[in-house]
Amino acid sequence: PPAPGTTAARTDPDAERLLYQIMLDPLGDEPYEGYRHVREQAPALLTSDGTLALSRFDDCEHALRHRALGKDDQVFDPKISDTPLNRSVTLVELFSSSMLFANPPDHTRLRRLVSSAFNTRHVQDLRPAVTGRTGTLLEALAAEPGGDFITTVALPLPVNVISDLLGIPEADRMAFTPKVHALVAALAPTADQECVLSGERAGRDLIGYFSALLTDKRAHPADDMLSRLVASREDDALDDQEMISTAILLFIAGFETTTNLLGNGLNALLNDPGQFRRLREHPELIPLAIEELLRFDPPVQFTVRTVLEPVTLAGADLEPGRMVLPLFAAANHDPERFDHPERLDLGRDQGSHLAFASGLHFCLGAHLTRLEAEVFLHFLVTRYDIERSGEAARRPIYMLRGFERLPVTLTPRP
Ligand code: HEM
Repeated sequence: PPAPGTTAARTDPDAERLLYQIMLDPLGDEPYEGYRHVREQAPALLTSDGTLALSRFDDCEHALRHRALGKDDQVFDPKISDTPLNRSVTLVELFSSSMLFANPPDHTRLRRLVSSAFNTRHVQDLRPAVTGRTGTLLEALAAEPGGDFITTVALPLPVNVISDLLGIPEADRMAFTPKVHALVAALAPTADQECVLSGERAGRDLIGYFSALLTDKRAHPADDMLSRLVASREDDALDDQEMISTAILLFIAGFETTTNLLGNGLNALLNDPGQFRRLREHPELIPLAIEELLRFDPPVQFTVRTVLEPVTLAGADLEPGRMVLPLFAAANHDPERFDHPERLDLGRDQGSHLAFASGLHFCLGAHLTRLEAEVFLHFLVTRYDIERSGEAARRPIYMLRGFERLPVTLTPRP
């Protein structure tokens, strides 16, 4: 393979077809082999509509940090399906006034107002609460042999943690998770008309709910993040739409991906008993193991950037408006960066992966997710034995990757 920085962009119809196939196959269980072919055939792939898809680690990182690239509300649409990707009320539209789709200076303003709550120190204050929640949820799962790890633990844990932080009433939080799932499902290129309509309804319900909640916080402030957000009197305070967008972004990003990390991580451990045993014998490896699980099966498989100013990447001259896809799933398995990338190695210490992206949009919730994963894994390896007890099922793979169902039996250690 060429040396870092010297990837030459090129078209390759076979690699393009393969890439779209990976993105569109909702049940494909092992995208990494496909991504390996794409990376080997065309590491900087120019698709037929001029998008540049990057699958080498260094190229992805370079693009994510490049100031000529930024955000736009474009959605990458693999042109393989007959129906164009749904652009009505998608996640993108809900988030369009949030930091996720903003560039500086708006990005700076939108992120700064909430960012300190997610720094290491503030997140560590949540440890006792996260520990309490996790212990209770695992007890519930242990009481139900053959129960579903996703619905009993992986979903309610992060939903409750982020909801406590934001100040979403107990009675409402879990009730909104099916709506978020409907929204995410509607974004998939394979979504049919019915799915799209249900996603739109869910989007409207979320907007309605969060605008009412923010109004309520303004009238009855409590000790939570949404109350602080509406009370903010700084010059750079957010307008109403930005607040709603931010609240919805934090709620959805706060659990959707963490659920997938817990599910993908547990699945990887169950598939590799040797590594699982290693973690039981060496719980001190847990922090490294979390990074390895994030690298190995990332909950966010790729992202999209838009060219803001003319730029040359991998030898290709790109005009404003063109899209660039950093393929995290491929970059995290790049053998130039990680030795034997297909191997799960819980003690691997080879530097950062791209599961949380890089640059200005680096995941705001990284410390929070790490805390949740750490507490969960600690309980699991020190207190329980676990085995599969039924068929697991993946969720649609487009952009977000996780499990719909992961049945297990959890037995407390004597
Ligand atoms: C951004 C992944 C958990 C909040 C991102 C991005 C990725 C990511 C890849 C960058 C997207 C892009 O550049 O296009 C993950 C993963 C998680 C996780 C894999 C769990 C395993 C969380 C949690 C929160 C959160 C728990 C809590 C609120 C955010 C926010 C952004 C973001 C607000 C936007 C940051 C910005 O645009 O400046 N995340 N995330 N994430 N994440 Fe996470």
